Formats: sequence, C-alpha cells, structure tokens
Amino acid sequence: MPDHILVKDDGAVRIIRMNRPDKKNALTQPMYAEMTRALREGQEREGIHCVMFAGAPGAFSAGSDISDFLKAAEGGLEPITVEFLDALARTQKPLVAAVGGIAVGIGTTMLFHCDHVVAGSDASFSTPFLKLALIPEAASSLLAPMRMGYARAFSMLVMGRPLSADQAREAGIVNTVVDPAAVDDVALKAAHEIASLPAGAVAVARKLMRCHLDDVLLQIDTEVTHFKERLKSDEARAAFAAFLARKK
Ligand code: COA
Repeated sequence: MPDHILVKDDGAVRIIRMNRPDKKNALTQPMYAEMTRALREGQEREGIHCVMFAGAPGAFSAGSDISDFLKAAEGGLEPITVEFLDALARTQKPLVAAVGGIAVGIGTTMLFHCDHVVAGSDASFSTPFLKLALIPEAASSLLAPMRMGYARAFSMLVMGRPLSADQAREAGIVNTVVDPAAVDDVALKAAHEIASLPAGAVAVARKLMRCHLDDVLLQIDTEVTHFKERLKSDEARAAFAAFLARKK
C-alpha cells in the first residue's frame, strides 16, 4: 500500500492520517487493516494518551471504496472491516478527529465514536447508504439517534441528506468549526490538551460515559449481518456499478 495511511506519534498523540487524496480518501481493505493495526498498537503503547484521525485537504474520507463493495458483493472480499469497527468501538484511549472537506459514509459514522471533533468550515457530512441500497453501519443506527435525535438521524442516515459543518455542530457531531487551513492544528492542540490530563482518570471517565459499549458492539454485529445481505442484492450491485461507470 503506497502510504495510504500515515501513522505518526507526536508526543503522547498518535496521528492516523488517511492519505489517498486522488480518490478522496476512499478506504480500501488494506487501509482499514492499517488503521486497525495503528489503533490497537496505540491502545497498547503506554506513552500514547490520545489518537487523532486526520485526512487530506478537502477530503477527510469519501467512505468505503465502492470497488471493494462490488468485489465483496461478488464474494471475493469481506464487505466492511468488522475488525476496524471493533477496534474503534473498543479503544479506551480518547479519539479526536480533524475533519476537512468531505466526510462520507464511514467518514461520518466513525465520528460517533470520537470524543472531540474539529471541522473545517468547508466540511460536509453525509451518509448516502440508502442511495447505494445499503444500510447504516458502525453502530450509527444506534449512536446517531442518541446523539442528534431520531428526526435528524433519519434525515441523515436514511434520506441521505448532508449536513454542513455548522449543522453538524448543532447536531452534536462536531465540537468546533474553524478555518479549513487550521483544522489539523486546532485538532492537534485539543488532542494534546486531552493527552495532558491524568490518563487513568480520563480512562475511567470515558468508560463511564460509554457505559453502553455492549449495545454498541451488538449493534455493529447486527448491522454487519444486514449489510452483508444488502451488499449482495441486485439493487446494491446496480448502484455500485452505476457509480463506478458514471460520467463526470
Ligand atoms: N469509492 C471508490 N472511489 C471513489 C469513492 C469511493 N467511495 N469516492 C470517490 N472515489 C473516486 C472517484 O471515482 C474518482 O476517481 P477517478 O478520478 O479515478 O474517476 C476520485 O475518487 C475523485 O472523486 P470525484 O467523484 O471525481 O470527486 P468529487 O469531488 O466530484 O466528488 C464525492 C466527491 C465524494 C462526492 C464522490 O466521489 C462520491 O459521491 N463518492 C462516493 C461516496 C460514497 O458513496 N461512499 C460510500 C458511502 S457508504
């Protein structure tokens, strides 16, 4: 994989950067595998107190790679990286995200697992699962209604209506909206602020605030079962093929 995921430790903060700008940071299976590895290693490493996700200018992530979806529909690949979702939900270290530009699909749903999200004013958040004849993943079918209320969650997750950075802040997904050029710096500063707190107390506070972890893990499993079925449906395959063959 040609450095599609860059992992760097900045003191006590591990930065996991998605770096496939020519494809708007669409996530392939090797990218998921590397993010999973980096997350789990960050969890194990004593000196790391916080993990930050970042993207490329203009693209946090366009979501899962739709060519991989098509391959998975044909049975050649695991559909979504359950391992990544598991690592994301189970990690005990605080997660920060620096979101500039587009955040599509898992680019948005992974944020429900983060503790602090900084967005550029150019950011947009969308989950067009249903347009691809799929269903929401990453426990977003549980976490989005909890976070923003059912009405807003339905509009986003099912109707696929995007949110601007300001709307995402109002919906409780984003903490701060900043100039797009400042996203990484502001997020890194917040990550260091969190990392400088007493780590043991942060871990306990976080665990208490995430007392529904078992429900989250169960929801991930249930969603995956449905997602795999949906992926193989004729309507989903047609939607993937249409995206990949689209004329610009
Ligand atoms: N899977 C595979 N390739 C993707 C992708 C994805 N999720 N998102 C973008 N790409 C590719 C495009 O096919 C294009 O490749 P090409 O240059 O070889 O043709 C390249 O990335 C740039 O994307 P492009 O569509 O030209 O950029 P844009 O700024 O016009 O639009 C998006 C950006 C994200 C709105 C658009 O690419 C899109 O809708 N992507 C699909 C998002 C999606 O449905 N994700 C899955 C959610 S479950």
